[in-house]
Amino acid sequence: MDRRYFLNYSAITAAYLLAGCEERSGREEGKARQAVSDSPAAVPPQKAEEKLPEQIMPFTQKLKIPGEIDFAQIKKAALTAQKSQVNIFPDMQTEVLTFQGDLPNPTIRIKKGEVFDLDFMNNLADPTIIHWHGLIVPEEMDGHPKDAIASGATKQYRYPIEQSAGTFWYHTHPHGRTGEEIYRGLAGFYMIEDEEEKRLNLPQGEFELPLMIQDKRFDEKRQLRYKDPKVPQDNNGLLGDVILVNATPFPYHEVKSEKYRLRILNASSVRTYQLAFDTIGEFALVGTDAGLLESPVMVQSVVLSVAERVDIIVDFKDKEVGDRVTLKTLGFKEGSNLTLHPDYPAFDAPMDIMQFHVTEKILDTQVLPEKLIPIPRLQASDAVNTRRITMEIIAGGIWTLDQKPFDMHRVDQRVKLGTEIWEIKNSVHMAHPFHMHGVRFQVLDRDGKIAFPTDKGWKDTVIVMPFETVRIIVHFTMPGLFVYHCHILEHEDQAMMANLLVE
Ligand code: C2O
Ligand code: CU
Ligand code: CU
Repeated sequence: MDRRYFLNYSAITAAYLLAGCEERSGREEGKARQAVSDSPAAVPPQKAEEKLPEQIMPFTQKLKIPGEIDFAQIKKAALTAQKSQVNIFPDMQTEVLTFQGDLPNPTIRIKKGEVFDLDFMNNLADPTIIHWHGLIVPEEMDGHPKDAIASGATKQYRYPIEQSAGTFWYHTHPHGRTGEEIYRGLAGFYMIEDEEEKRLNLPQGEFELPLMIQDKRFDEKRQLRYKDPKVPQDNNGLLGDVILVNATPFPYHEVKSEKYRLRILNASSVRTYQLAFDTIGEFALVGTDAGLLESPVMVQSVVLSVAERVDIIVDFKDKEVGDRVTLKTLGFKEGSNLTLHPDYPAFDAPMDIMQFHVTEKILDTQVLPEKLIPIPRLQASDAVNTRRITMEIIAGGIWTLDQKPFDMHRVDQRVKLGTEIWEIKNSVHMAHPFHMHGVRFQVLDRDGKIAFPTDKGWKDTVIVMPFETVRIIVHFTMPGLFVYHCHILEHEDQAMMANLLVE
């Protein structure tokens, strides 16, 4: 392993950090200065040594592409939550949690109109349950924390797919342990397809890539580190310094000079990414959490908070063999003056994520359609009710909704089938991705300064910036008890979750 390369890399990151951190705490600023003063050839600072004793050389490992559970080929599937040893690094194994023995977990692919049928076995020591994030399914199939199954037990999931094409995902959802289980590996993609999408002829096969982005921490034995008990800020959200894409640290992927459809999921604990490419100025946003947009929106970058998805088309047609294009985060400030673990790259730290290596020049034949799918706009005037949800921190530093720590058995909102406006008011200095089970919704408006192009599409998770109010319009079509919560994993595990009963 080339130690020097990483030092270069971290010094560069630190330089950026310093440039943009006038408002930071003294502690953090001091640290950035210290890192910057280290020349690339100098001995690494003690802290970096503790965190990344074996240096990770970016863009040397090939991107892993998840295998698929394709319901066009099988009628029934099985997943088993289990402890596994896997090669995240080529030379040493890491203990993780998986659904089939390896990472990345398989991608589920299913068509609208088909029946999803899967046996889930819990081989973990504690109760757990799988939730299908973004799917509108009956309560017993949704994976509410109250439905967690015991260690050694099996649950059968069976439900028809009735919603349109989109990039969804699955992960476990036990009360108080979701964060650590996702962090240790229990998450995968779930793609729904339909005829309308197929007709668009978007890039497919080798030109369609699912990318699950997660930042993590590793110790000197390349084992995952979760919360640092000495640093209470980790309860506000766990930031890591090693970015994995499909369970591969800072990978690379070989591409042709053609359009690619990247279906990107942020499955991190707390980090929001502002995704951009270093040498491609613009790309097309074609889909959001719960489906395709009406038409492609050209963007230079896109913000992706935890649990959100974006479907983008990036075009390598002007690239030559040998060119390299880096996907990175420009850094996104979540809150004013909020410092989490001071030893890890802050929210607004620019970081590289992965690289595309152009290895073949081909004729660019893909056409990006001008129109995608029609989105019926939910009208504020159709709403029969408006409710307000507040995001608050209460005594003891506990994150809550409406100042009430989550109680699995308390019904917080009773809703009638139909359309409602929910006003999500953030009363604190940290952004929160707000997620609802059992529905998809549209963003009506937000009173903040940033315009998010992802607000144009179907959503199931929406970022609410500090002190901002976001109004969403929600169509309730599935009766049952569901949760809504902040999707920062450490917040949902603490108490930032509530129950909604649809009748
Ligand atoms: Cu990703 Cu409660 O969900
Ligand atoms: Cu969900
Ligand atoms: Cu939160």
